[in-house]
Amino acid sequence: MDIILQTNKLTKTFAGKGRQKKKVEAVKGVDLQVHKGEIFGFLGPNGAGKTTTLNMLTTLLAPTSGEATVVGHDLLKNPQKVREHIGYVSQAGGADTSATAKENLVLQSRLYGIPSAEAFKKAEMLIDRFQMKEFGDRKARTYSGGQRRRLDLALGIVHKPVLVFLDEPTTGLDPQSRAYFWEEIKRLKNDGMTVFLTTHYLEEADNLCDRVAIIDHGEIVAVDTTQQLKKQIGAESITVGFSNDAATEKAKAALSGQKFIEKLFPQENKLHLYVQDGGSLMPEVLRILDKENIQVQTIGLSKPSLDDVFLQKTGRSLREAGV
Ligand SMILES: Nc1ncnc2c1ncn2[C@@H]1O[C@H](COP(=O)(O)OP(=O)(O)O)[C@@H](O)[C@H]1O
Ligand SMILES: [Mg+2]
Repeated sequence: MDIILQTNKLTKTFAGKGRQKKKVEAVKGVDLQVHKGEIFGFLGPNGAGKTTTLNMLTTLLAPTSGEATVVGHDLLKNPQKVREHIGYVSQAGGADTSATAKENLVLQSRLYGIPSAEAFKKAEMLIDRFQMKEFGDRKARTYSGGQRRRLDLALGIVHKPVLVFLDEPTTGLDPQSRAYFWEEIKRLKNDGMTVFLTTHYLEEADNLCDRVAIIDHGEIVAVDTTQQLKKQIGAESITVGFSNDAATEKAKAALSGQKFIEKLFPQENKLHLYVQDGGSLMPEVLRILDKENIQVQTIGLSKPSLDDVFLQKTGRSLREAGV
């Protein structure tokens, strides 16, 4: 397995502002390995440290400590070499909205030293590839969210990087544009590029990424393929909901000792029970709770999701983390 990116205890602490001068430890000693050719996902809620990490890996922000090797070059000693081989599509995107897609693409090529005639050809080619013909001669400020993202992506790969960083590429897009964009990202991979993307969408990590690192409060809490992460959780999850804290507490006490429950996680007025055979164990759970006179409000059975993984690793649900 070829490693295209590796970090060693990468850390960023922002100096505090204001009267209290409270430091922000945005990224706390992150160790990552990204394999060549994969779509690597960096999944975490708002404020987890995703953008800060990307800004360091793309040489825009100096780490407080730690080191990294990106496409074979030392991030700190050789930032120029790193920059030559990577692409970065930030959350805001890099397009000049007062110019057309074509003008943006030509300018970007020229910035990379590509001669004018070739730059025009390349712009045409990218407009074709990202299906921007319909709007490519209009100013970018008139584009829909999905159209803007397509242009941002095209701008990020003008110089044919081997590794491209995408920061929350589909945030704010409607489901259809998101699905379309996922196909574009898969196409980058099929063309041989390695993709490192951040997201707070569970579905995005699940559908798109070969491997996922989960980051929370600046720390990596899990890294693996999505299948493997879910497998560690247990075969199935039963979620039981109660009407108040007292009932939840009582139920927790009643169920904690049960051998058939592999793991039990409380979350507000719910209990998540991870078991091998949920279908046949659900009646058993109800029987136990009934015996203790505990009223059940809801009960459901599901296959473990990445949200279950997040919940087990952080004690919170990403779906409900308010992102
Ligand atoms: N320039 C900065 N100065 C101070 N704090 C910052 C700065 N940039 C980010 N932070 C803080 O660092 C933490 C991580 O932010 P960020 O990397 O943007 O998270 P994410 O991209 O996962 O939403 C947050 O608490 C954020 O407020
Ligand atoms: Mg961010």
